[in-house]
Amino acid sequence: MMEERARQAEDGAGFIRIENVSKSFGSFKAVDEVSLSISKGELFALLGGSGCGKTTLLRMLAGFETPDAGRIFIDGQDMAGVAPYDRPVNMMFQSYALFPHMTVEGNIGYGLKYEAMSDAERKDRVREMLELVQLTPLAGRKPHQISGGQRQRVALARALARQPKLLLLDEPLGALDKKLREHTQFELMNIQYKTGVTFVVVTHDQEEAMTLANRIAVMDKGVVRQIGSPTEIYENPKSRFVADFIGSINRFAAAIVYVKDGIAVLDCAELGQPLQARAEDGFEPGMRVTAAVRPEKITISRERPEAGNVLSAVVHDLGYFGKDSLYRLQLPTGKMISASVVNTRRAGENERIAQWDDAVFLAFDPASVILLRD
Ligand SMILES: Nc1ncnc2c1ncn2[C@@H]1O[C@H](COP(=O)(O)OP(=O)(O)OP(=O)(O)O)[C@@H](O)[C@H]1O
Ligand SMILES: [Mg+2]
Repeated sequence: MMEERARQAEDGAGFIRIENVSKSFGSFKAVDEVSLSISKGELFALLGGSGCGKTTLLRMLAGFETPDAGRIFIDGQDMAGVAPYDRPVNMMFQSYALFPHMTVEGNIGYGLKYEAMSDAERKDRVREMLELVQLTPLAGRKPHQISGGQRQRVALARALARQPKLLLLDEPLGALDKKLREHTQFELMNIQYKTGVTFVVVTHDQEEAMTLANRIAVMDKGVVRQIGSPTEIYENPKSRFVADFIGSINRFAAAIVYVKDGIAVLDCAELGQPLQARAEDGFEPGMRVTAAVRPEKITISRERPEAGNVLSAVVHDLGYFGKDSLYRLQLPTGKMISASVVNTRRAGENERIAQWDDAVFLAFDPASVILLRD
């Protein structure tokens, strides 16, 4: 499925092109020179905290807001001066409202009201949409007679009924609780895949973006900080902001002493010992950097490991989270480090790798250390 998506995406590269787009409200710059390109058939996520400009960017794509500067192309056409209803775009709003007095079927059909099509065609389309979101048996119910997740699917079907080339979804799962959200994420992916419609999904939930999207743009204060696949963003963040925003991470201030065979040796006062890290081009001796390691890349052991970066530490705290356990460990320098261990067995208290106050070794591979310039 992923490969298929990648192939579709390649055929329609540059389907949406956003070029140096800015938008201010008064003196406040909500979107600041954003450029990005989205391919046909992609499920693209705009990810960022509240107020970073996600909805504003989406509204400019839909035509509800006009950029102050920059250009937007959809399917090769410049969108300047093109009214919302003339764009091959539909938008599912942050707080989608279904008509309470209309049935599920009526709500889905509403989107087709102004389409030039016969009654029979309209009926067929609604039937097709009901099947797509698996609500055929509930077609006659009113919104208050179905669950939150089902209402979300009605809104999605309504938005897809006009067969837009591009569907913009603003926090589509925001109204759902955690469990239903996870389930609905997969439905959303499935529906996107079946229809082949390009989806741009706004979310402030990093896990959701990672699960749903084949590419993510991380936004901060109106600016795109990084664009990449979920793996790229997680494994190779380019800034401290992105490293911190996606998942949790340990950070150490360090200076590069020398680089040999692609491995940098770092001087790191917080660790009280040198650190090795894989260094890409551009990292030179003398540079001040931040070295970052994700908790799950660190192993905890009783015996001193032979290879990698090895630190001694004492267990300060540990939390059990069902699928994994999170350890907080203290180094001799006082610095605290987080390490997570996946619970593969149903272990009793006494079978844990380490308990409170145990002295242990921490180890991680140089390749697991991310070097950040800022
Ligand atoms: N019409 C408007 N007039 C004035 N300020 C606005 C307007 N629309 C948005 N803003 C401001 O622009 C900024 C970006 O708003 P936007 O709605 O794009 O954020 P967002 O990323 O969607 O946030 P959230 O996750 O909370 O929905 C915010 O500071 C907001 O207050
Ligand atoms: Mg918003």
